[in-house]
Amino acid sequence: MQALKPSSSKLTLIVASVVFLLGLAGVAHGGRRLISSHDDNKPCKKMTVYYHDILYNGSNNTANATSAAVTKPSAALSRSNWSNGTFFGMLVVFDDLVTEEQALTSEPVARAQGFYLYDKKEAYNVWIAFTLVFDSKAYKGTLNLMGADLMAEETRDLSVVGGTGDFFMSRGVATLSTNATEGYFYFRLKMDIKLYECYVA
Ligand SMILES: *[C@@H]1O[C@H](CO)[C@@H](O)[C@H](O)[C@H]1NC(C)=O
Ligand SMILES: *[C@@H]1O[C@H](CO)[C@@H](O)[C@H](O)[C@H]1NC(C)=O
Ligand SMILES: *[C@@H]1O[C@H](CO)[C@@H](O)[C@H](O)[C@H]1NC(C)=O
Ligand SMILES: *[C@@H]1O[C@H](CO)[C@@H](O)[C@H](O)[C@H]1NC(C)=O
Ligand SMILES: *[C@@H]1O[C@H](CO)[C@@H](O)[C@H](O)[C@H]1NC(C)=O
Ligand SMILES: *[C@@H]1O[C@H](CO)[C@@H](O)[C@H](O)[C@H]1NC(C)=O
Repeated sequence: MQALKPSSSKLTLIVASVVFLLGLAGVAHGGRRLISSHDDNKPCKKMTVYYHDILYNGSNNTANATSAAVTKPSAALSRSNWSNGTFFGMLVVFDDLVTEEQALTSEPVARAQGFYLYDKKEAYNVWIAFTLVFDSKAYKGTLNLMGADLMAEETRDLSVVGGTGDFFMSRGVATLSTNATEGYFYFRLKMDIKLYECYVA
């Protein structure tokens, strides 16, 4: 038994090395390397874009609308706290334009495809999930965002939970702020997207 000791610790070392190497291999995907950022202030990729939500108003904006309510709010619940209603229970589906600058007519960057649902009886508040679909000279690929959009807050953070193409396996945080609202049928969000995990070829 005594004689086995050194070899068993050697074995432990070999096992540990193999596990370590497998761990390293696990980080590379399809020949790409993970570039992580451990400093919260230094994302590996950063971009600011603007999301335009043009809601169908029920009459004559079909040419422009990119977003539509697919359920009505639950009227009684929605008005239970605030007589004007909070849209509680309403689900909206969108295929919205995302641009480089704040103007709707500025350079398109991506489409934001997904949905948001009003989830608070007492105030406007939504849960949102969408894919940013990039198909431009600069980027091809997708980023998937989701989370609570706490509309009472000046800035809200959504999780960037993954990506494909130029954003293969990316993760990070998108900070949202409402940049403009026009009545009930248009709003614009400023999105500061910060990726803390990027893969490079
Ligand atoms: C919508 O457009 C139609 C035809 O273009 C017009 O007759 C109608 O009055 C318009 N309705 C509204 C609410 O603008
Ligand atoms: C569509 O949007 C553009 C830009 O906001 C606006 O100039 C135009 O009047 C809109 N058209 C309709 C039918 O709403
Ligand atoms: C909807 O938008 C169209 C085009 O901008 C406008 O003519 C119409 O009056 C709007 N209807 C409502 C109910 O806001
Ligand atoms: C509405 O909800 C808010 C927050 O929960 C509460 O402070 C307020 O008293 C409520 N108002 C009514 C009319 O129920
Ligand atoms: C509710 O709507 C009424 C009428 O449109 C408006 O006068 C009032 O200011 C609204 N209440 C709130 C809290 O915005
Ligand atoms: C909208 O975005 C522009 C450009 O980033 C910024 O200058 C402006 O202050 C923003 N407006 C609001 C209301 O946040």
